[in-house]
Amino acid sequence: MGFPLHRPRRTRQSDAWRRMVRETRLSLDALIYPLFVVPGRGVRHPVQSMPGVSQLSVDEVVKDAKAAAAAGIPAVLLFAAPSEKDALASNALDPKGLAAQAIAAIKDACPHLLVWADVCLCGVTDHGHCGHVLPKGAVDNDSSIETLAQVALNYARAGADAVAPSDMMDGRVAALRRLLDRQGHATTPIVSYAAKFASAFYGPFREAAESAPAFGDRRSYQMDAANSREALREVLLDIDEGADLVMVKPAGPYLDIIRQVRDAVNVPVVAYQVSGEFSLIKAAAERGWIDERAAVFETLTGIHRAGADLIITYWAPDMARWLNE
Ligand code: PBG
Repeated sequence: MGFPLHRPRRTRQSDAWRRMVRETRLSLDALIYPLFVVPGRGVRHPVQSMPGVSQLSVDEVVKDAKAAAAAGIPAVLLFAAPSEKDALASNALDPKGLAAQAIAAIKDACPHLLVWADVCLCGVTDHGHCGHVLPKGAVDNDSSIETLAQVALNYARAGADAVAPSDMMDGRVAALRRLLDRQGHATTPIVSYAAKFASAFYGPFREAAESAPAFGDRRSYQMDAANSREALREVLLDIDEGADLVMVKPAGPYLDIIRQVRDAVNVPVVAYQVSGEFSLIKAAAERGWIDERAAVFETLTGIHRAGADLIITYWAPDMARWLNE
């Protein structure tokens, strides 16, 4: 029995109705705010390709972390871009390195704000790849995961509430879990960037994190955009190795992957709305071509509706305001 008995518009006729029958609700509880830390004091250096996002020195990153906590944002994701970059990733292994300092300072100032530490080598190596590079230019898996585990341990010791490996080496979740457990950090969760695709949408981030590869690209370790079965395989492997949360990244162009992962696993699923997804909307909004707030609500709702329990977004502070208006 079709029209005129069925009129789906009946429950759309007013704000009150729309509010009541809404199937997906955004909450600040589900948002994670990325922060970029750089050396120095009093540094607040705007990232050209990401309007509103800045590289911050430790003292300044503490201010933004405090503001995020005060606004009700539950977690930040920390990236460090030290000036010292070498083949060994020394700064990330140093208990006094930039990321370790920032983690400790944020935890000291805001004990209840969760600090997730991104674990990767691209921001701390001179070649900008996510693992160790062999003489002929290949990225070596098995030596890389040993270093990544040491980096994760360094961040856990500094006070990180979770470590988030974003390198896409094979077996790194197991390597991190083993070392963390042996060294007294059995309760530190691993947020695995499990299905991370080689994406054109990371461009602006590489300015913020100073992590562009000096040669080649990341396609020998990050996933091919065309593959969804392989994404599920990556996710299941990481859960098998001990991942506590799994991530799909980017978010917007991969909503089908988010849905498939959500249906296949029983751990929380995180989606990363990445820098390029951010900059596209920002650029259009600056030109008056799109309504930023409406576009942000729509993209975040879409990501959530697709099955993401948690969303990493550069709009977290704006959302804190908008959700309260
Ligand atoms: C580093 C890393 C990247 C992002 C998060 N961690 C970039 C890359 O893999 O080149 C991208 C985040 C964003 O674009 O917002 N491994």
